[in-house]
Amino acid sequence: MKKFLSVLASFIVAGMFHAAAAQDELTPEQQAAAAVADRQAVFKMLRFNIGPILDMTQGAPFDAELAERNGRRIAAIAPMISEVLGAMDTRGHDIETAALDLIWDNLDDIEVKAQALIAAANEFSAAAAGGDMAATLGAVRALGGACGNCHESYRADDD
Ligand code: HEC
Repeated sequence: MKKFLSVLASFIVAGMFHAAAAQDELTPEQQAAAAVADRQAVFKMLRFNIGPILDMTQGAPFDAELAERNGRRIAAIAPMISEVLGAMDTRGHDIETAALDLIWDNLDDIEVKAQALIAAANEFSAAAAGGDMAATLGAVRALGGACGNCHESYRADDD
């Protein structure tokens, strides 16, 4: 059994190296497409978590626990924004993206805006933890505003 496990482990490790090598063989266009997919995945997660919060402002039943949980998730995911946008400068590649070119001349400001989102998400979660509906829903504007504030400067206006 021990032998089997160590053989299995070496296969898994070999598989990981293979995947890493395959990554190196990607064309620059494929690398750019992968970088776009990664960052859009992060933004999709943000949307997934803010969705039910926005629904509560539109008449869905207030759920303080869900609000707090999703707010904390947003605060936890938001630090990845700078990472995924900084991971690859995709300017000049033939890819579909809503990310504006000026992002890569302004990564410091991207970080500032990501930090603003983290702060807003933390304030929102704290309000939700208090269980007060008015205070919680009142904090949604700043939370959503932190998303919109970055989109206004750095995302193509296509939706
Ligand atoms: C610091 C900047 C920044 C912040 C903050 C930010 N976004 Fe974005 N967002 C972007 C950029 C840039 C794109 C375009 C990514 C691309 O197409 O490559 C984007 C794209 C998106 C998309 C489209 C993803 C897709 O599938 O194409 C959604 C949805 C989204 N953001 C939601 C949010 C939500 C919700 C928040 C707040 C909780 C948020 N974003 C905060 C910069 C930001």
